[in-house]
Amino acid sequence: MNSIKRLSTALFALLMILAGSCSRNQAGKNDVEGRVEKLLAQMTLDEKIGQMSQLEVGMVGTEENLKKAVRDGRCGSLLNCWGVERVNELQRVAVKESRLGIPLIIGRDVIHGYRTIFPIPLGMAASWDPEIVKKAFRIAATEASSQGIKWAFAPMIDITWDPRWGRVAEGCGEDPYLASALAKAMVEGFQGDSLTDPTSIAACAKHYCGYGFPEGGRDYNTTYITEPVLRNVVLKPFKAAKDAGALSFMSAFNDLDGVPASGNEFTLKQILRKEWKFDGLVVSDWGSVPEMVVHGYATDAKDAASKAINAGVDIEMATTTYFDNIKSLLEEKKITQEEIDNSVRNILRVKFKLGLFDNPFVNPEAQKSILEPASLEHARKVARESIVLLKNVKNTLPLSTGISSVAVIGPLADSPRDQLGTWCFDGNAENSVTPLKALREVLGDKKVIFVAGLTYSRDKKTDQFSKAVAAAKKSDAVIFFGGEEWILTGEGQCRGEINLPGAQSELIAELVKTGKPVILVIMAGRPLAIGNEIDETGAVLYAWHGGTMAGPAIADLLFGKESPSGKLPITFVKGSGQIPFYYYRNNTGRPGTQQSWTPIDSIPVENPQTSLGYKSFQLDYGFTPLLPFGYGLSYTTFAYSDLSLSALSMKTDGSIVVKAKVANTGNMDGDEIVQLYIRDRVGSITRPIKELKGFKRIHIKKGESADVEFTLKGEDLAFFNGKITATEPGKFDVWVSTNSDEGLHGEFVIE
Ligand code: GLC
Repeated sequence: MNSIKRLSTALFALLMILAGSCSRNQAGKNDVEGRVEKLLAQMTLDEKIGQMSQLEVGMVGTEENLKKAVRDGRCGSLLNCWGVERVNELQRVAVKESRLGIPLIIGRDVIHGYRTIFPIPLGMAASWDPEIVKKAFRIAATEASSQGIKWAFAPMIDITWDPRWGRVAEGCGEDPYLASALAKAMVEGFQGDSLTDPTSIAACAKHYCGYGFPEGGRDYNTTYITEPVLRNVVLKPFKAAKDAGALSFMSAFNDLDGVPASGNEFTLKQILRKEWKFDGLVVSDWGSVPEMVVHGYATDAKDAASKAINAGVDIEMATTTYFDNIKSLLEEKKITQEEIDNSVRNILRVKFKLGLFDNPFVNPEAQKSILEPASLEHARKVARESIVLLKNVKNTLPLSTGISSVAVIGPLADSPRDQLGTWCFDGNAENSVTPLKALREVLGDKKVIFVAGLTYSRDKKTDQFSKAVAAAKKSDAVIFFGGEEWILTGEGQCRGEINLPGAQSELIAELVKTGKPVILVIMAGRPLAIGNEIDETGAVLYAWHGGTMAGPAIADLLFGKESPSGKLPITFVKGSGQIPFYYYRNNTGRPGTQQSWTPIDSIPVENPQTSLGYKSFQLDYGFTPLLPFGYGLSYTTFAYSDLSLSALSMKTDGSIVVKAKVANTGNMDGDEIVQLYIRDRVGSITRPIKELKGFKRIHIKKGESADVEFTLKGEDLAFFNGKITATEPGKFDVWVSTNSDEGLHGEFVIE
């Protein structure tokens, strides 16, 4: 057989294989759709309403009541139910005793780990490492599914510009590009390589949408978001989650420009279903359907149900407006049977895709996956990579393990529950390794002098200060563990001021007076306004609420096992008065400049001037934040050079390769997160002064350098201008940088 014939035979075989796999995929898809239609056709209206109702098990009363509800097809999913025996028994009732045997799906807030708790998502975002975040969510899915949970109400991917908002802890920060990369990783981590794998659980992109923009940073508050900001910022991570295959979305509490998110046909139907072709299910947030009455958008619960159903909310969480009203709404033609059937299709499709019909029960053996050493080691790695070095003068850090003694002070040095952070329903404080415990393991008890000084983060009592100061004086270095109790962040836990709570600042000042090197380790759920504390101390590590293994991770960095590598996923402001402050702001017609700013204390008394600058700044805070987005130091130093662009212009459908050299000029190996920013100088609407369009975490040994390369496509520069989404011709700036405030600068043109 000659070579041509051999090649054509091979090609034909390859085509058959590809066709086969496509047809298998299509067959798989058709199989699911076929099974959905076949089952739907058998269902009564009551059974359809049951699938659209999610019961919160605590609201049902006895277990027998719960089983009866399941047996009668009253509910298709349960919230806050877990445990192999309980779930398997309820599933048995559903599958064996209900008329059609439709399995339940059990949902739970698995936000940053199940039993092995990882840093809060804002902390994980500071790692800028989608791969380790994906693995963290894979571990969370493995542990949660072993308890019967097949649906996580996560990832929470609400962009926010407001650190006063308690749920800033739960998201990925201010930037849509970084949040989109992490949203993809989180969904893939939860859902695994095969949805029918027993360890795969459905992800739930939440809270759709705009929830992160509450007025005043007060949770559940009104949001006003222009459509350009909605499409160019808020929706980006949700689109990434959808593209990653997220099986569900959760509709939010907030009123979005006058229309509550859980009754918003524009976002839920026009964008999510028509434009994005999403075919998963939408679940309301807890109570967000009847709350439309409180919003003043619905006249009563029945009207609220009608608005939610017509907007496309498939399942009502925890409340019963669907169960109570769907029948009469159908009779009154306020909703259609088609709407009901479509919602039930979406729900059944998710259950079929997850393999629940074929494999509804949990294997008790799977519980062995909980708190595996490898999982704890990964939690330690994620916590380490999440920590951001904000300051390190005179090489205060790293410490030597040969140090003779350290004074460990502060309310978070030994607070096993606080370090787990918000939203960790199934994490156990007794599994936490605290910083104090970790330091004692590294140095031995004798070298560690522990005086809390304050018993909790809000503590204002100073009676332990003298003891803490005495400990500091006896030591070679002071490590102060401060920040926030976990309860000061999370849902409904917003703050007006974002300083260090209690008398922490006063205690830090007393410790600084001893003249000993003072190292701050801040464990918090939001960016705090700690400018003064940074100024007066030698080194600052921002460790967030770092999870089960926060202690060992912090100790690893304190003693230089690794160099800190995290970068801020959100701007740090000087005080609440600067909020909102985000790096991708527009330029305004009068941007603040150093020359134009007159600091408040330098204004002459009885000032004869008529103006102090006529620019966009604040007399007290100026026009720059405390620390910029993307900021983070290392124990080593990195030098950027040799920026090059493969071309100085491209078509809107073209691409340019941007290269730079990064050298490790210090005396320690380290990771550097290299960032790529652009600026569209002129647009059909005003454009941000910077936008993140790429990042790479690279490891560079001391004395060595690395070439970093980004491909920038014309389509990456497209934006919605209020009418259309397009890439517009014009001049662009490009930076390759270590943070959003500086960098190697180049220019190019889109023709
Ligand atoms: C809460 C939260 C939501 C969570 C749900 C179930 O109110 O807003 O994020 O998933 O209720 O606990």
